[in-house]
This record gives sequence, structure tokens and C-alpha cells, in this order.
Amino acid sequence: MFDAQSIQKDFPQLRRNIHGKRIVYLDSTATSLKPTAVIRKEDDYYKRYTANVFRGIYTTSEEATAEYERARALTAAFIHAGSPEEIVFTRNTSESINLVAYSLLTHDLSPGDHIVTTIMEHHSNFVPWQQLGAERNIAVDIWGITPQGTLNFADLEKLVTRKTKLLAVTAASNVLGTINPVSKIVRAVKQLNPKCFVLVDAAQAVPHMPVDVAEWGADFVAFSSHKMLGPTGIGVLWGTQDVLDTLHPFLFGGEMISEVHVDRTVFKSAPHKFEAGTPHIAGVIGFGAAVEYLSALGMQHVRDHEEKLVSYAMKQFDRMGGVTYLGPNDARIRGGVFALQVKGAHPHDIAQLLNEDNVFVRAGNHCAMPLHESLGVPSTARASFYVYTTEKDIDALIVSLQKVKNMFG
Ligand SMILES: Cc1ncc(COP(=O)(O)O)c(C=O)c1O
Repeated sequence: MFDAQSIQKDFPQLRRNIHGKRIVYLDSTATSLKPTAVIRKEDDYYKRYTANVFRGIYTTSEEATAEYERARALTAAFIHAGSPEEIVFTRNTSESINLVAYSLLTHDLSPGDHIVTTIMEHHSNFVPWQQLGAERNIAVDIWGITPQGTLNFADLEKLVTRKTKLLAVTAASNVLGTINPVSKIVRAVKQLNPKCFVLVDAAQAVPHMPVDVAEWGADFVAFSSHKMLGPTGIGVLWGTQDVLDTLHPFLFGGEMISEVHVDRTVFKSAPHKFEAGTPHIAGVIGFGAAVEYLSALGMQHVRDHEEKLVSYAMKQFDRMGGVTYLGPNDARIRGGVFALQVKGAHPHDIAQLLNEDNVFVRAGNHCAMPLHESLGVPSTARASFYVYTTEKDIDALIVSLQKVKNMFG
């Protein structure tokens, strides 16, 4: 039985009282809270077997290496990757996407080639392509959305041509909440151009729903540990071994080489050729514990829980009136994130007033300025849910929003 109320007990931060009141954490889209299991796992590495990985032939180094590689195997199984070698550890989703963008720079991009991204992307999946386009003087086309906040499929045929090198798309929007049909997108793109790479930003998908990268059929998938109960400073880039092998390394240094001579270097194969230098060992090991925690909950249960919360929240917003949110109003294609507007109130005022009740939401453009600009909305106050969010938390949000409405309405 999935029970968010008892799940809350696993998150020490939720035991905190500030000014005598409990915390209502509604900013998991920015970063999630961490369960005791993850904190302990990381702590255990520092206390019991701190050592570098891959280098030592002594016990603690072997233990650290085994735990590090175990986290890689757990991550591979979690997203149904073909093998642990398809998992590259980076610092975050942004670095995973930059790794691909940088490696593409070393590919034979020629005039007339182009890249497609979408208007609903986080800056992480927008700016790297914009900058790559500027550097190589190639066009970056933007895939638009319908008034409901879903990708406009009618436009895809016009966007993807024989010259399209890569299409970058988010699996779930961090502002609209929209869950995109990734398999359908990949199929359509590959039909239009089998050589076009598809990169999926799964920062808001892998933490919240079952993901099967084999079923998606994309070339690259990027996500972050810190949004799925794990430590900050760890990201993942998934790619098939074939595709990863064609990419040039992004950073050079120790542990990513098999031979170095004065005049040349032979790199290791993926994933190690992309993990130069000493990695964030404790973070990766802690991330493994986060993956185990989520696996034990069951990702379909996580998704079902969030879908219920989305339905509940939409009902409460409608009942209250005066509060609007961006994106679709169909819980089946929406993640647990609401970019809210209250008539007459600036999003920063909303967030500040909510903070007085210990209701924590984020205000701003949520690193999606092109999207906000295209909608003519400068900023929003965003409330987002996760495994520990309850209907009671949404009720607390509604009570605080009512105060905002009374003050500004
Ligand atoms: C959809 C999406 N993509 C990318 C990112 C960037 O993630 P990170 O800051 O971990 O690189 C975020 C973070 O909010 C996001 O929501």
C-alpha cells in the first residue's frame, strides 16, 4: 500500500518545525527531499570505506568501487537500460545534455544541418543547442505547443528533415506539467529521418513515473539524482553503447584513458571515457540508495499517487476560483507541478506570503524563460508534488492561497 503519510516519516526534514509550524514542502520539481536511507548510505561511505574508486587494490577501495558500480547497475535496471555500461555519471541533467552538445561539436556538422528543440524546454535543454547553433552557424528550430500546453504534432513533419542532426525534447515539463508521449515522438522523428538523434530530458520523468528507455527508443536520456531523492551533484546520461562509442570525450584526465603516450592517447570505452577524474563517489553511492528506495515504492505507484494529487489539486483550484495554472487540465497527461497565477498578485508576493505559513513554493520563470515569454506570462508561483506529498499539504496550499487572494483580490 502506497501511503504518503507514512512515507513522510522517512524524510527527517519533514520533522522540522519552523516558528512552531510544520513544513509543507512543495518544491520537489526544483529538488527533492532526501530519505534517511540515502543520507545513511552516503554517511557510511565517509565513515567506513572512504577511498578512491578503480585505483586501489586494498579492501576499502574495492568496497567503494563495488558500491559505485552497484549504483550504476541499479540505475540501469531502474530505467531498463541494456547494460550498466550505458549509464554515464555526470554532475546533473545540465551536464549530461552539455556532454552531448559538446561531443556533437566534434561531429561533422555542415551548413544546412539543423537542430530542433521545443518551446517548453528548461534552459538546460535549450541554451546548449542555441549556443551550439551559434558556434557552428547552424539553425535551431523551435517546436511549438498547442493552447492546451501539449506539443503540436502537426508541426513535426515540417521541422524534421534529412538535415536534422538532433531533436531535443523534454519528457515532462517543469512548468506546464505536460507529460510528452516520448515513444510516439521518437517513432515519428526516426520515420522522418532515421539518422536524427533524439535526446530526451527526463529530469522530471525518471523521478515520477516508470521509464523504459528501450521502449522510448531515443538515443540519449538525461536526468538528475537530486530530483529523485538522491544527493546533489550527480546526473545521469544514458545512451546505447553504439551511440556512446561514436561520441568524443567531453573532459580529459585520469581514469578515462587506457593508454597515454607522449604523442597520443587511447581512451577507455563508455561509460568510463566520459568520467574523467575522481567522481563524486559518495553521491553516486547515495544515489544508488535513492534508486533502491524508489524501486521499493514501485514507480507505477508513485505515478498513480501523483496523478491522484493532480486531480485533487485541480478540483481545489477550480472550487476556489481566482487561481489559474498553466498547462493541460487532464491529470492523465500531467505531472505533479502547477505554475500558478493569482489575479492581482505578483508570484514573488505569493511565494513570500505562502512562506509565512511554511508552504514552500518557487516563484519566477523556473528556468523556462522562452516558454513564459511565448505565453506572455513573465513569471509564476510553482507548487510541485512528490512521494511524500499528501492531500493535507494541498489543503494547506489552498488555505494560504486564499489569504493571498483576500489580500490582493
Ligand atoms: C525539465 C528539467 N530539465 C533540466 C533541469 C536541470 O536539472 P539540473 O539543474 O539538475 O541540471 C531541470 C531542473 O529543474 C528540469 O526541471
